[in-house]
Amino acid sequence: MTDTPVILGIETSCDETAVAVVDGYRVLSNVLASQVDAHARFGGVVPEVAARAHVEAIRALTHRALAEAGIHPMDLDAVAATRGPGLAGALMVGFSYGKALAWALGKPFLGIDHMEGHLFAPRLDDPDYAPPAVVLLASGGHSQIIHLKQWGDYEVMGSTIDDAAGEAFDKLARFLGLGYPGGPAIDKESEGGDPTAVRFPRALADRPFDFSFSGLKTSVVTYVRKHHRDGTLPPIPDLAASIQEAIVDALVAKTFNAVEEAGVGAVAGGGGVLANRRLRVRMAEEAASRGVALHLPSPVMCTDNGAMVAAAAVYRFGLGERTDPASDIDSSLRLGR
Ligand code: KG4
Ligand code: ZN
Repeated sequence: MTDTPVILGIETSCDETAVAVVDGYRVLSNVLASQVDAHARFGGVVPEVAARAHVEAIRALTHRALAEAGIHPMDLDAVAATRGPGLAGALMVGFSYGKALAWALGKPFLGIDHMEGHLFAPRLDDPDYAPPAVVLLASGGHSQIIHLKQWGDYEVMGSTIDDAAGEAFDKLARFLGLGYPGGPAIDKESEGGDPTAVRFPRALADRPFDFSFSGLKTSVVTYVRKHHRDGTLPPIPDLAASIQEAIVDALVAKTFNAVEEAGVGAVAGGGGVLANRRLRVRMAEEAASRGVALHLPSPVMCTDNGAMVAAAAVYRFGLGERTDPASDIDSSLRLGR
C-alpha cells in the first residue's frame, strides 16, 4: 500500500477507448485501442460506430491496464471515467462500465470532466507543474485558455468563437485530401514544407485571448480553388506548413497574451493539438524567451488517454469527492462553469 491513491481511469468520450492505472500522479499503465481505422473511410468520427467499438474494446483493455500495472482490482482505491463533454453514446459506454466495475468491487467511483483531465495531464510524472499557470487546452472539440489559479479554480480567459483548433486541422486536412485525423496528417505533411509559402490570415487581433478559425478555413478554400484553376498551387507540404503556421501562430500569441495578463511564471498545455510538433517548438521558444516555465505532457498524454482522467480523479478523490452511482453522463459539461 502507498499513501497515494491507486486509480483506474477510463476514457471513451470520442474515438479512443483508453484505460490507465496511476498511483498518485505516477503512471503505472496506459493502454488504448484507437478507432482510427473504423472511422477513416467515413472521413470523421461516426458516433454509432464509436460507441459500438468502445463496447467491444473496454473489457479486455481494462484487464490489460490492470495486468500491465501489476495491480489486482481489489487493490484499487477508486475507479474513474469521463463523464463529459463528448459523444453521448461513447461516453455512456465508459461511464457505465466504470460505475459497474466500482460497484462490483465495492470501491468509490468518480465521474471526471474530460477537459479537467487534459488540464491535469501535464501533472503526470511532473511534480513541478502547479498553479498559478496559464494552460492552453486545444483539442478536436474545444480550444480554451485557462487561468489555473488553484487546482479546481479555473478562470476561462479565452476560447474559440467558432471552430476548435483541432477541428480546423481536421476540416482543412479533409479539404486537402490528407485524410483523418487531420492534425497528425498536416503535422506530417508539413515536414520539409515552407511555412511562409502562403500567409493565411490570423483572426481576432482585437480580442487578445480568443480564437477564430472559420475565417482561415474560408481563406484556404478560396486560395486553393483559385490557384488550382490557375495551375499555380504551391506543393501540398508548403500549403500544409502554411496552414499549420497560421493555427500555431494564433494559439501561441493568444496564450502568451494571457500569460502576460495573468502575470504567471508558468505555462502549460493539453489536448490533442498540443501533440503538434511545430506548436511544441514554438511554445518552448516563446516560454524560454520570456523566462516562463513550460509544462507540456508527452505527445501521447496530449491526445485522449485514461491516465489524464485518472490524474484529475487523484485530485478529486483527495478532496473526498465521490460521484453518485445514480448520476448520468453530461455530454455538454463545461470547464469553469
Ligand atoms: O484531445 P483529443 O485527442 O480529442 C478530443 O478531445 O477532441 O484531440 C483530438 C484533436 C483532433 O482534432 C486531432 O486532429 C488533433 O487533436 N491532433 C493534432 C495532432 N494530433 C492530434 N493536431 C495537430 N497536430 C497533431 N500532431
Ligand atoms: Zn480530448
